[in-house]
Amino acid sequence: MSDKPKRLLLGITGGVGAYKAAELARLLVKRGIDVQVVMTQAACQFIGPATLQALSGKPVFTDLWDNRIDTGMAHIEFTRGVDGVMIAPASADFLFKLAHGVADDLLSTLCLARSCPLLAAPAMNQQMWSNAATQRNVAQLRRDGVTLLGPDYGVQACGEIGMGRMLEPEALVERIEAAFQPKVLKDLSVLVTAGPTFEAIDAVRGITNRSSGKMGFAVARAAHEAGARVTLVAGPTCLPPLSDATVLPVESAQQMLDAVERAIDDVDIFISVAAVADYYVLNPSEQKIKKDAHILTLELAPNPDIVANIVSRPNAPFCVGFAAESENLYEFAELKRRRKNLPLLAANLVQDAVGTDDSELVLFDDEGAHPLARAPKQVLARQLIAHIAKLFAAHQQSPSAP
Ligand code: PMT
Repeated sequence: MSDKPKRLLLGITGGVGAYKAAELARLLVKRGIDVQVVMTQAACQFIGPATLQALSGKPVFTDLWDNRIDTGMAHIEFTRGVDGVMIAPASADFLFKLAHGVADDLLSTLCLARSCPLLAAPAMNQQMWSNAATQRNVAQLRRDGVTLLGPDYGVQACGEIGMGRMLEPEALVERIEAAFQPKVLKDLSVLVTAGPTFEAIDAVRGITNRSSGKMGFAVARAAHEAGARVTLVAGPTCLPPLSDATVLPVESAQQMLDAVERAIDDVDIFISVAAVADYYVLNPSEQKIKKDAHILTLELAPNPDIVANIVSRPNAPFCVGFAAESENLYEFAELKRRRKNLPLLAANLVQDAVGTDDSELVLFDDEGAHPLARAPKQVLARQLIAHIAKLFAAHQQSPSAP
């Protein structure tokens, strides 16, 4: 995110999920987001404005005719200069109002008067959610460009089980931050590799490494947040599936290369985050090798270099490499960037980066080294994408550069 704090208008409507909006407001403020809360009268039946006032650090507004706004134009004033409006929880009734342009209270009126993005986290009984009327309103809202976050499946306040639970506040904060990211890769196509590769020795055993896939998945997510169409070629990981990308699961380096080559046409930016095994086992056994008293010798042959292969293609996309080094990070990484003929390479220390949630990155390009301070991988991935977008734009001006 840019240095300027983001401003969010948090609208709370009437539903049991309103109590989670208090935690949502707290988390947003903790992340440095400036939160202005507006509640409907029904929301005030579920949670008191005083709670939200204390958590947001600002007066809470509930009334269209509130004379605390100098100009008396609360419905217009509130959305001037805000980066987004988030309705959480969004009741079935409020979804109807949004879908039909009803403006009969402060919150619905300011939603109609806004020009910033609108996000809504539906929360209601599962029968109300699946009702054709609600689904019609939901479809209309999607067509109107409203971002619907959730609902989730699970046990509901009424004791029933189904779709309709509001997403948890932590998940909503992530999605709100994602929506705030500048669309610096809008309409571009990005291909990312992630995770380790697995080179089979026999039917069960293989050679792999400790890459968890977290960094590659974070980069894919950040590219999607920046407006790109994303394809992710992923080696074996234990991460939850990514809904923001077309995911192509692979196992070996050769399979990764094949998947990348199949997907590479029309790709604008290729980001090679995967920790690809340098060698594969010649003649792996189809059966499980039986243990005996002898020394087992494996013959290894070098794997194809995927990023080198893509860089050397005619009309190659803008290629970004990664390097994990255990020592001499600056020297080895810059050497690797030059050897692989890459305009940009992101380097990290093995002990800091492999399998961890937080890390540090140094970006190497023709201008030199740009260290990024320790942060969660998602934050680093966003900074990397911002850097890529700048270099890519410059590269479009003079494509003869590497
Ligand atoms: O997955 P995590 O646990 O989050 O960890 C992330 C990470 C540490 C794996 C990641 O940040 C990282 O550093 N990835 C690169 C790992 C590495 O050391 O790559 P390398 O030095 O072997 O290769 C350099 C570059 O060439 C990389 O972009 C790599 O994807 C690419 N390569 C390497 C070998 C090969 N056969 N084909 C390739 O394309």
